[in-house]
Amino acid sequence: PLVPMKAILDATEKYNYAQGAFNVNAVCQAKAVIEVHEMFRSAAILQGADLANAFMGGRTDFANGTLEDKKRGAQNIANAVKKYAENSPVPVALHLDHGKNFESCAAAIAGGYTSVMIDGSALPFEENVELTREVVKYAHERGVTVEGELGVLAGVEDHVFAANSTYTNPMDAVKFFKQTGVDALAISYGTKHGANKGKDTVIRKEIAIATKECMLHEGIEGTLVSHGSSTVPQYIVSEINALGGDIHDAYGIKKEQLKEVSKLGIRKINVDTDIRLAVTRNLRELFRDDPSLRGSASIGEIYELLCKNPSAFDPRVFFPPIMD
Ligand code: G3H
Ligand code: 13P
Ligand code: NA
Ligand code: ZN
Repeated sequence: PLVPMKAILDATEKYNYAQGAFNVNAVCQAKAVIEVHEMFRSAAILQGADLANAFMGGRTDFANGTLEDKKRGAQNIANAVKKYAENSPVPVALHLDHGKNFESCAAAIAGGYTSVMIDGSALPFEENVELTREVVKYAHERGVTVEGELGVLAGVEDHVFAANSTYTNPMDAVKFFKQTGVDALAISYGTKHGANKGKDTVIRKEIAIATKECMLHEGIEGTLVSHGSSTVPQYIVSEINALGGDIHDAYGIKKEQLKEVSKLGIRKINVDTDIRLAVTRNLRELFRDDPSLRGSASIGEIYELLCKNPSAFDPRVFFPPIMD
């Protein structure tokens, strides 16, 4: 069944584990993610980022997606996920990842998402609180879960300077939960978005521990979320490069650290990059192995390849490697 994300998060608190949350950009990926969770008899959190909704709404130039595109995309993916979830034995939640503003969140909710993230982390604390509160009020009235963010992650979001740390302050986190009523909160504690997290990135687990301690002390029942948590498996990076790719300085978070924080109060672990890498590897393999497509291993040359191969005209050939 399709459920609000909070139902899944509550189970993690009760049984002391963390739930993976996986980004999807297409209906075929959503189907694949649900199937894998069924194999493991696990609940599933699927997330579509703001721009993913624009893409799924039919905007190939997704960066220019309008609110209407996002709303249509949210509807498309939610309709499909709802159908899959109705026929699935595992609970499935569909969560908006990094909602930009109130309107993006409302569009996702209108489309059928059961959870939204409002990312006000770039705003001053008080403005972040105000925006998040607004979304919480709107979402909770509709039975939808809300995730907020406090502190700025390194990487695509900002740089973390030792002298001017943007790690989440545990006391601020407590204040944020109290003032906004969010169900979940993304904290900045050393992780980073993207494939280049740095070779020796270490999660500052003491930030998670302190935040959880402060929350317990104040009787707050919220959930802590770990963004930028891809492990960037080195064998996948090597395989991409062996297949003609050129991906450098790609290092992720160590799996052991994720396991450790999953016992220290981190309840949701976001993964997007690892899936993007695996998709790229598999597509490169396809172009290497399928004789009808042979000629190049470079994804940038797909168009040229198709022109050169009159017998290759079936897009369904490209989807299975993406689902795998
Ligand atoms: O955390 C951000 C996600 O990786 C989404 O990326 O905005 O390119 O869809 P995107
Ligand atoms: P990665 O880039 O490490 O996969 O993080 C994804 C994420 O945080 C999505 O919100
Ligand atoms: Na953020
Ligand atoms: Zn994120």
